Amino acid sequence: MLSLFTLSGLLCAQGLDTELDRKATELLQKMTIAEKIGQLSQVNGEYGQITDGMRIRVREGKIGSVLNEVDTKTINELQRIAVEESRLGIPLIFARDVIHGFKTIFPIPLGQAATWNPGLMEKAARVAAVEAASVGLRWTFAPMIDISRDPRWGRIAESLGEDPYLTSELGVAMARGFQEDNLANKGAIAACAKHFVGYGAAEGGRDYNSTNIPENELYNTYFPPFKACVDAGVATFMPSFNDVNGAPASGNAWLFRKVLRQDWGFGGFVVSDWESIRQLEVHGVAAGQEGAAQQAIMAGIDMEMASGAYAAYLQKLVESGAVPESVINEAVRNILRIKFQLGLFENPYTNPSDFPALLSPEHLAIAEEAAMQSCVLLKNEKAALPLPEGRFKKLAVIGPLADDPYEQLGTWIFDGDPQHTVTPLAALDNALQGQAETHFVKALETTRSYDQAAFPEALQAAREADAVILFLGEESILSGEAHCRAELGLPGAQLELLKAVAQTGRPVISIIMAGRPLALGEALEYSDALIVAWHPGTMGGPAIARLLLGLDAPSGKLPVTFPATSGQIPIYYNHKPTGKPATEESYVHIDDIPVRAPQTSIGNTSYYLDAGYKPLFPFGFGLSYTRFEYSNLQAATPMINSGDTLVVSVELANTGDFEAEEVAQLYIRDLVSSIVRPVRELKAFQRVRLKPGESRKLTFNLPVEQLAYYYPGTGWKVEPGQFRLWIGGDSNAELNTTFEVR
Ligand code: GLC
Repeated sequence: MLSLFTLSGLLCAQGLDTELDRKATELLQKMTIAEKIGQLSQVNGEYGQITDGMRIRVREGKIGSVLNEVDTKTINELQRIAVEESRLGIPLIFARDVIHGFKTIFPIPLGQAATWNPGLMEKAARVAAVEAASVGLRWTFAPMIDISRDPRWGRIAESLGEDPYLTSELGVAMARGFQEDNLANKGAIAACAKHFVGYGAAEGGRDYNSTNIPENELYNTYFPPFKACVDAGVATFMPSFNDVNGAPASGNAWLFRKVLRQDWGFGGFVVSDWESIRQLEVHGVAAGQEGAAQQAIMAGIDMEMASGAYAAYLQKLVESGAVPESVINEAVRNILRIKFQLGLFENPYTNPSDFPALLSPEHLAIAEEAAMQSCVLLKNEKAALPLPEGRFKKLAVIGPLADDPYEQLGTWIFDGDPQHTVTPLAALDNALQGQAETHFVKALETTRSYDQAAFPEALQAAREADAVILFLGEESILSGEAHCRAELGLPGAQLELLKAVAQTGRPVISIIMAGRPLALGEALEYSDALIVAWHPGTMGGPAIARLLLGLDAPSGKLPVTFPATSGQIPIYYNHKPTGKPATEESYVHIDDIPVRAPQTSIGNTSYYLDAGYKPLFPFGFGLSYTRFEYSNLQAATPMINSGDTLVVSVELANTGDFEAEEVAQLYIRDLVSSIVRPVRELKAFQRVRLKPGESRKLTFNLPVEQLAYYYPGTGWKVEPGQFRLWIGGDSNAELNTTFEVR
């Protein structure tokens, strides 16, 4: 279904008028070149102040948008100047990075992705939008839908993981949550699909680094979530900082004029990233800021964030003829259309009392549910979890992240307030009142501490307890923008702490809070149970407590592969088969090679002598407190034609004794194709709740178009031939069948 924006984009492209275009064109015709360029400039707020300079620039129509101003009084005053004192009264649009919540903070996006629950993520984005709109913000720079296969990259924390289909489904859900079905709705805010494109492929996992992505990888891996957001009507786009095959995104006309506008029919507007236009000079593709401004506007970057190249040079570029005024007009029209859609002309001001309270019980309940569903159980032995109700009297709660209201909120929480955080320690104390007691020992000041002075106290607490809950991981600042790590182990002396606690012989349950997959091999060895809670947000404590006490079962599934060591990176599930894939039989460990063994070319396959070829945990993996069994997988029709929908069914049974939710995942593989295809591709998933002993027939409808693959030179097509299809609880699912596309 074409979205309104796509439709308007197409209509504009065909020159057909829509009401939006008529209004935008009518206003545009009244504007001077200076006022037009004003709309293309976004400046940073002054944190509750309004300097004379800002006041004058707004009054002169030289600013189109303000970011990072969240004081409603200031927002309304700036808006009043724009609407009542400037010549044409064009309202400002106020923006902020509302990445995973405004005041009510949800799990970091990578954690939310572990819920594999689009409906829940839409609700979370809705809450974030309403809270942001209540202070006067009408635009967020989210969802971030960069495919991320490199956990060294700090911004994997903001992503929705490594898979194009999962990221598309969840990214669209977030955009819908922010925008609702009508941008003019009171609590709706414009979303922003970012960072277009390939930012997650930064070489070496180092932020802002170069990316070299061949055409088929761009179309099959990195483009799909962005195309899905365009088709869903996302209002804005943002370029990435990186150069894409030598052309920085912020000056890349192929990306923004050809692919985004011409091919995809995007009808919203594009805002640069922070000073990314200025950086074209640093990239070495523009001689000075005038050249940067010219390159960016000609490439289709409508609005400049933070730097001032447009404000300084666009008028001169138009007057010299270097930039046609029609290009400026198109950029202004794109922006005005969104401002009209947001209803800013009719309702430019914000009255917070028109909105529900921030951090309302309803908002916090959704945040708790999201945190609970984001937790991924990676190990559970010796019946360590859930804690046996009534059969324990004392819990040792140990570690730097057990009671840290700030760290559990995660990266990119500009407006999150730690005073509202409920930590795991507080939640356990609250839940265990009268039944059992907790003994808290932080043991390490921060996750990076090496000072073991408090270890004896921690070990004493462990010895006196029935079980130990150990909260380890990364402080929030160790992930996020520009915070990349070359080694993925637990920082500081956390592993030493875990090993020492394990020596006491008490059951050890490790809870890992982090903004990325960590190399948890040793942590697993010394833990009886281990849960990854990411950075779970405001209500992370009650969510974790519910799982520990068995009030609910973990149901999260990994949205990204967990490598055994950093050296395995990049490692992801939807890799190509190669001509010599490793197998259990072919793999030889470094310690097993005979001394002076002769070099041979026979029987070799693709693996590391010292790290094998399997990750620690595969994409889609996550345990439960119960067992789920899949059976009776059937494709309704073993042969399908183009235009058909393949109907597949499978029986799912809860064969354990705990009510729980499972995310059933459907993967396919094209067995013979004209270019190499991934060994598996996620094409559908369903979250299902089953009582102990309950079983259910699940049906998946797979339109043949979803099997399409992009082939350089021929574009998207579904190739006839044999496909294999798996359904199971992770990307190593074994139950499979085949079908044929005619
Ligand atoms: C940052 C980020 C971008 C963010 C913008 C505004 O540098 O790259 O994701 O939206 O600046 O804060």
